[in-house]
Amino acid sequence: MVLRAIITSQQQQRRHGVEDEEEEEEGEEEDLERGGGDRKKARRRARPWWMLVVAGLFFGGSAITSRAEAPPSSYQKPVVAFNATGVENLVMVAGHAVTITESLNGVDRNDRHWYLLDYQRGKDLPGEFVAHVRKGVEMAHEDERALLVFSGGQTRSDAGPRSEAQSYYFIAEHFGWWGHPDVAARTATEEFARDSFENVLFSLCRFAEIANDTYPRRVAVVSFDFKRRRFADVHAKALRLPNFRYVPMNPHETNPESRFDRREAEDGERRTLRTFLRDPFGCGRVLARKRQSRDPFRRSVPYGPRCPAMAPLLTHCGPTASFNHTLPWDNTS
Ligand SMILES: *[C@@H]1O[C@H](CO)[C@@H](O)[C@H](O)[C@H]1NC(C)=O
Ligand SMILES: *[C@@H]1O[C@H](CO)[C@@H](O)[C@H](O)[C@H]1NC(C)=O
Ligand SMILES: *[C@@H]1O[C@H](CO)[C@@H](O)[C@H](O)[C@H]1NC(C)=O
Repeated sequence: MVLRAIITSQQQQRRHGVEDEEEEEEGEEEDLERGGGDRKKARRRARPWWMLVVAGLFFGGSAITSRAEAPPSSYQKPVVAFNATGVENLVMVAGHAVTITESLNGVDRNDRHWYLLDYQRGKDLPGEFVAHVRKGVEMAHEDERALLVFSGGQTRSDAGPRSEAQSYYFIAEHFGWWGHPDVAARTATEEFARDSFENVLFSLCRFAEIANDTYPRRVAVVSFDFKRRRFADVHAKALRLPNFRYVPMNPHETNPESRFDRREAEDGERRTLRTFLRDPFGCGRVLARKRQSRDPFRRSVPYGPRCPAMAPLLTHCGPTASFNHTLPWDNTS
């Protein structure tokens, strides 16, 4: 009797769970504005699953455990154990924004899945961000010695403490790593960077942290094509990286119909490039202020002690030429 009652109530809850999911698709817009609605729904959905497991353990009944075969969707993703033993190269994907919905269905099409600034809206950027994630996954798949790092901090106060890096990671997971789930074992997040220089700098430290204090032989960075000069001519030079490759992504190649405004993007980029040319370590007034504004949760940068060989880079401030410390990758070729 007790058993039947539990099963029946679970069936009812499960039905509700499914309805919730259907509602979620329709009600997404609203959820976004309310905030937190997604989370409550996720909790409701989770109840039938763990109750089944608890009931199954309690009664040891196979009839009950077999009902537990279909856990809620959020629990179904295969988990690939992280094991980056033997990585030699770094593939870094620079983050640009944070996702703000828990359901990622449509994350490559809808602005509403992302926390976007005004100037980023209506430009078909979601598809482009996802294309960057995919490119990184494919590159890491082609080089089995590569560590893939998604880099980007918790940059937006209104988005809550979600990092760009995590957003990108879960997108890869959502798309099943585009058929290459093995890459998950070699994928890490770098969750403190607040600008493009820090994307590269901190990812190098993350690499050392993961790869037993070794540094990558080759570094590849995936980002927008119009930022090539900034990464390749300014950041890679400031860091004296010998084997640096820039992987330029063109929004109109990703999507010929894209509403991406190249003119506007290039104008903005010219200004940022000028600032970094004057201040390659990003510590002067303008860039330091930008960093501060992209760190609403006051996450202090933790990296110094984790990569002692490159630690002087983390604190250097001044022109590139004035950085006269040796670096662990100085004599690699
Ligand atoms: C991690 O990968 C290496 C090399 O691919 C392998 O030798 C090692 O056993 C793996 N470690 C674990 C804990 O799976
Ligand atoms: C890490 O590096 C140290 C020093 O080079 C070495 O002795 C140790 O065996 C390495 N550990 C692993 C797990 O590779
Ligand atoms: C490095 O630069 C600092 C300040 O610019 C200078 O004091 C120091 O002597 C230099 N060290 C070497 C090894 O060149």
